[in-house]
Amino acid sequence: MLDYLYPVDERALFTDRDHYLGLLELCCTELQQDRRKHLALLGLRRIGKTLILKEFILRWLQRPTAPGAPPVLPIYVDLKRLGLSPESFAVEYVGSVLYWFLEKGQGRWDDYARLPTLLRAASTLGNPRVLDMVLELDADLRQQVIPQRRLLELAFNFPEVLAREQGVRFLICIDEFQDLGLLSNFPQVGDVLDIFRALLQTQSAVAYVAAGSAISLMEGIFHQARSPLFVHFRSERVGPFGRAESEELARKALAGEALPAAAAQTLYDWTHGHPFYIYAVAERMRELILLSGRAADAQLVREAFVLETLSSAGRIYNLCRYVIEESMGQARGQALLRLLLQILAESESPLTLTEIAHRLRRPAGAARALLNRLGQVDLVAQIDGAYDLPDPVLKIWLAYFHAGVELLTVPRREILEGLVADMAQRYQRLSSELGLAKESQACRELSRTVREVMAAFDGRLAPGRLFGRTASGAGAVQLPVFTRVAAY
Ligand SMILES: Nc1ncnc2c1ncn2[C@@H]1O[C@H](COP(=O)(O)OP(=O)(O)OP(=O)(O)O)[C@@H](O)[C@H]1O
Ligand SMILES: [Mg+2]
Repeated sequence: MLDYLYPVDERALFTDRDHYLGLLELCCTELQQDRRKHLALLGLRRIGKTLILKEFILRWLQRPTAPGAPPVLPIYVDLKRLGLSPESFAVEYVGSVLYWFLEKGQGRWDDYARLPTLLRAASTLGNPRVLDMVLELDADLRQQVIPQRRLLELAFNFPEVLAREQGVRFLICIDEFQDLGLLSNFPQVGDVLDIFRALLQTQSAVAYVAAGSAISLMEGIFHQARSPLFVHFRSERVGPFGRAESEELARKALAGEALPAAAAQTLYDWTHGHPFYIYAVAERMRELILLSGRAADAQLVREAFVLETLSSAGRIYNLCRYVIEESMGQARGQALLRLLLQILAESESPLTLTEIAHRLRRPAGAARALLNRLGQVDLVAQIDGAYDLPDPVLKIWLAYFHAGVELLTVPRREILEGLVADMAQRYQRLSSELGLAKESQACRELSRTVREVMAAFDGRLAPGRLFGRTASGAGAVQLPVFTRVAAY
């Protein structure tokens, strides 16, 4: 089952994510009881969104339908693999729905990306309404001026018609959902999300799950009041693993090699629980163990991390490079943006707008505009009024990349050890900065509480015993009125 979409070796490594799998299951069981719940999964690159969808689909397909409940069939559509002109999107979207309905994820879906297959599949179903829709799709595509908007309406409506006619329900998982927006570039289409929303509201047999890594675009789609999909989806942020899950994944990837507690802790500290980074480092550790007979200790974790991150053949190196290039490719005004990224990457703690403007030698307004542009492509996040890269490993990679550090695939031992020591120091400094940041946050919270208490005094009378007066002479004490209470 799902052999092409979700290979068996990938399944063997799947770890945790019970919360999201539970939510997806809830979408399906609610749908069986005619309640529709749409879900959006947002998260950084390679954090594991797609794997959650695949694992869920596999588990759901393996589960027998409860007696008396209508079957819910999952559909997986990856927009990165679909043509994003209205014509090809319509054919491939309808094709995906038919493929999942008929084949349930068996075999390859690409055959269903062609009209003749769709016509054949629809006619074997023997349902006139379904066949009519595919014939209409065919007819629309033959017109002199192709009715692009109507094609999209037809595509989005197709699963509902198929579900009703066949007595099933669909859970449609749309991966890289933000790419749907590219269809709005066709003037005749207008806002594609408007079309999608309009049809979603007329449907009853279909629920949607949207996943996407372009976080600020996805937030724009699901969290902003002016977006057509605002409040229609329950949105969930997919984050990194905790300590225990990180260790569990590492053990699976190490396939039976022992992993001492100190090594597991270092792996978690250095990867920050990001599953792809954990997997890459653990795989490299396994290779080093098998090739050189080393033990899986904390030093081996560090070396594997450095090799994966700083050598051009490393998987973390390649992912970071790809993320930066892809994100910067979309942002205009490259030179200053690169400088700004470099400033952020080299700073050990988050920077305020004033600090950034000073280091950039630009006015605060200009710095803010640049930060916004990096924010739109998810390279910068704002936390507690300061700016930083949201992915600490990407930040470290950038700092070394700017410094021109790049390892050979098999570096000399002293060079590797030197870099491991250098990186260990960097992590040490980062964790103490983090400690300081937490401490100063605790101070800020305490001082806010004190200010609130002072403002509440307001000339009230308080029992004298609170101020140590004896019971006999205890009168009330009048508390002061503060005319101004401010942070110092
Ligand atoms: N739950 C998990 N268990 C085991 N490995 C995982 C898990 N989640 C992610 N990984 C690892 O991280 C890799 C990336 O996962 P996935 O493709 O699901 O991420 P994604 O968030 O969809 O990424 P993208 O933003 O590129 O679409 C996987 O190939 C796997 O190695
Ligand atoms: Mg993905």
